[in-house]
Amino acid sequence: MSYWSSSAPGDRCSLMAWALFTGHGVEPLPALFLEILDEEERSRADSFRYAQDRHDFICAHALRRALLAWRFARSPGYWRFTPASLKRPQVLSAPPGTSPEVTLTHSHGLVAAAVTDGSAVGVDAEDLKGRRADPAILSLVCDEDEQRALDVLNGDVVAWQRAFLRLWVRKEAFVKAVGVGLSFPLTSIRFTPDGQLAGIVPALADIVGRAADWQLWEPDIGETHHLAVVARMGDSRQPLEYRYFEPAQLALILDRLVG
Ligand SMILES: CC(C)(COP(=O)(O)OP(=O)(O)OC[C@H]1O[C@@H](n2cnc3c(N)ncnc32)[C@H](O)[C@@H]1OP(=O)(O)O)[C@@H](O)C(=O)NCCC(=O)NCCS
Repeated sequence: MSYWSSSAPGDRCSLMAWALFTGHGVEPLPALFLEILDEEERSRADSFRYAQDRHDFICAHALRRALLAWRFARSPGYWRFTPASLKRPQVLSAPPGTSPEVTLTHSHGLVAAAVTDGSAVGVDAEDLKGRRADPAILSLVCDEDEQRALDVLNGDVVAWQRAFLRLWVRKEAFVKAVGVGLSFPLTSIRFTPDGQLAGIVPALADIVGRAADWQLWEPDIGETHHLAVVARMGDSRQPLEYRYFEPAQLALILDRLVG
């Protein structure tokens, strides 16, 4: 796994994703993480029952602000979003001439955010160690081809779990890009093993367009988690500008962005 970035604040990368390792929820967080959040984010953070969930929430929302600030050259505290709902959060404070689309995910120990200028985008992550998928939900998530591919792994519980969660993360990232949430039928889309979106049932074409419009990236995040970004890039194949951090590294970037 490598740590790199070729962009500088304000650079016009088409698609950027940042991930942040958040630890076990007991480590003190840099003060700036909370300071840059707005009232609603702070009050939502305070409503969590478990420290780890609060910790991951603060990290995810600080990361989203840092990424937007970096990409669109505005301070982290500048950004306003639609209130929490069942819909995909939208940016309410787009700088003139821009159309930021942003998405975030929190899983135990890792959070991530991705941003584009105008293209629908979704990110999802799962903790591969802590999460156990129940084979009973297979038929709710996978189409027949995907189920057959998983059947080959029957008997190897670890490999089956990893393959299933990987598929799940891809589909959740897609559903988050579409923005419809739980109402989207996951079995109506299919990813090939090499990550192409191969099938969308015709009845959904009005909402999601052509399968070929969608692109999937699965940045290397190590053994503990799986991470996927899905975006509607049309005919242009785009690289993903990807970085990952520990909290102290993100704090340094925030310091610079807050100026
Ligand atoms: C909305 C949904 C996509 C969230 O996914 P999740 O894995 O529970 O949680 P994540 O941490 O990855 O993402 C949560 C973030 O997604 C964003 N979000 C919320 N609703 C969203 C929507 N309709 N579309 C896109 N993003 C959404 C929010 O930013 C939220 O974070 P916040 O509450 O801190 O602001 C999920 O609840 C959902 O609808 N899943 C549909 C897929 C499904 O059926 N899964 C079950 C598989 S059996």
